[in-house]
Amino acid sequence: MAGNTFGKLLQITTFGESHGASIGGILDGVPSGLSIDIESIQSELDRRRPGTSQLTTARKEHDIVEIFSGIIKNEDESLITTGTPVGFGIQNNDAKSKDYSYLKNAYRPSHADYTYEAKYGLRDIRGGGRSSARETACRVVGGAIAKQLLFAASKVEISAYVERVHDISVPFPPAYFERSVIDENIVRCPSKDIADRMIQRIEDVKNTGDTVGGSIVVVAKNVPSGWGEPVFDKLEADLAKALMSIPAVKGIEVGSGFSGTLMKGSEHNDAFRTDKVGKVNTETNRSGGIQGGISNGEEIVLRIGFKPVSTIKKEQNTVNRDSEEMKIIGKGRHDPCVLPRAVPIVEAMVALVLGDHLLRQRSARL
Ligand SMILES: Cc1cc2nc3c(=O)[nH]c(=O)nc-3n(C[C@H](O)[C@H](O)[C@H](O)COP(=O)(O)O)c2cc1C
Repeated sequence: MAGNTFGKLLQITTFGESHGASIGGILDGVPSGLSIDIESIQSELDRRRPGTSQLTTARKEHDIVEIFSGIIKNEDESLITTGTPVGFGIQNNDAKSKDYSYLKNAYRPSHADYTYEAKYGLRDIRGGGRSSARETACRVVGGAIAKQLLFAASKVEISAYVERVHDISVPFPPAYFERSVIDENIVRCPSKDIADRMIQRIEDVKNTGDTVGGSIVVVAKNVPSGWGEPVFDKLEADLAKALMSIPAVKGIEVGSGFSGTLMKGSEHNDAFRTDKVGKVNTETNRSGGIQGGISNGEEIVLRIGFKPVSTIKKEQNTVNRDSEEMKIIGKGRHDPCVLPRAVPIVEAMVALVLGDHLLRQRSARL
């Protein structure tokens, strides 16, 4: 397979480039009988959409999802899945391909220009082609349906927030925040004071033609114990692959992550206990809700690291297609910091993985 499909029982395939006529996908494996809230899919897309605040690229896309198959209307006009592939599309409206003509010959440092040509021998220079984060809109559609499946099946809820921009971070440990709290400010950080500082930092670097990265925390609650496979498809392995496939993601931590490497076993272990009704849980959650690749019933907690956007409006050294050294300055419309727009993408990828493992767990025992 050419890497455009992800998942085993709940499987998403995406197609399309940044500056083509449209992008879209197929979500296969959604069981029949799932009530679909189309407004909630659209609202997830709206969260990812560019051009919604001064912190995002000025590209203005309407990003209206069209469903082509797999969902029908009940007599009362409500929507329900049929069990067949859910096909969907989103038109590209605001593609300014001439913004990219300067890339015909030159490779942007740390972008995908050089490596795409190394692989295919040619590349679609318009907007970065398939390396553009435009493709992630399709993941958000698939993830929004997966979220509805997860909630209907197990009341699973997934929520992500911006924990750090550059060196400005929230002082509290990872926690679950309602979307209403996260979306209260344009940087999607649950602390207003810290959010104001993050926004200032993004504007400052934007004004100098530069970019910054940071980290996002995602928490999934109500995931029952038992999801995940024991060897190659460990839950954290599938989550790491899903999250690392988001453009600009360079690292992922599960639970205590790298900070856990500084602790002793006696400090790090999550002691088991029972609650008032005899249900097993743990006193702490340094495992991030996953042990042996299988969920243990605690919240799933992950941290995802994003690099600074590589297209900067400063002069940099590069080479052209003839391997001649030259200078390049980024042009076109770019995000100075992708973190706020990446929040719904992170949630979507976690939902797709958990949705897949929900279905896999249903086939695991009698
Ligand atoms: C929401 C989002 C928006 C992005 N916007 C831009 C952008 O405007 N300009 C840019 O150079 N990279 C942007 N990126 C990152 C590039 O797509 C990515 O760095 C590039 O494909 C190279 O891949 P890599 O960084 O994963 O190695 C964005 C990423 C995300 C998640």
